[in-house]
Amino acid sequence: MIIKWSDDLNIGIEKIDQQHKEIFTQSNYFLKKIKEDKDNPAELKSNIEDLFYFLTDYFVTHFNDEERLQQKYNYPRYEQHKKVHHNFIERINQIKYSFWNEDHDIDYLKHEIKDEILVWLKDHIIKEDRLISEYIKEQ
Ligand SMILES: [Fe+2]
Ligand SMILES: [Fe+2]
Repeated sequence: MIIKWSDDLNIGIEKIDQQHKEIFTQSNYFLKKIKEDKDNPAELKSNIEDLFYFLTDYFVTHFNDEERLQQKYNYPRYEQHKKVHHNFIERINQIKYSFWNEDHDIDYLKHEIKDEILVWLKDHIIKEDRLISEYIKEQ
């Protein structure tokens, strides 16, 4: 099953919505590539490296942008939200580390990307990011 972006995930802040969407698009793109690379170990390795590079790099950028926005509006849950972001980056690094060092297979990787990262992101958007835009709109 593909974990996709859906319009009900929009929080109404265009830049943030675009970034969220991009994470789903790119992650699914790489998952598709990885599936196609089954019989090509060199390609597979390179796509997995690119996937992890994308995830670590893009999540950091996205979280920084989101945190800057919260600071700009003196968002009261800023510290709490920042901590959640920080822990999640650690989680991605952990998945990456354990994939390369603990001899996991591709099914493990697919599971972690979908059921850990993308499911987490959906949940985080609905429960946390949405509160930022609600707060900003009230200002
Ligand atoms: Fe967030
Ligand atoms: Fe976000």
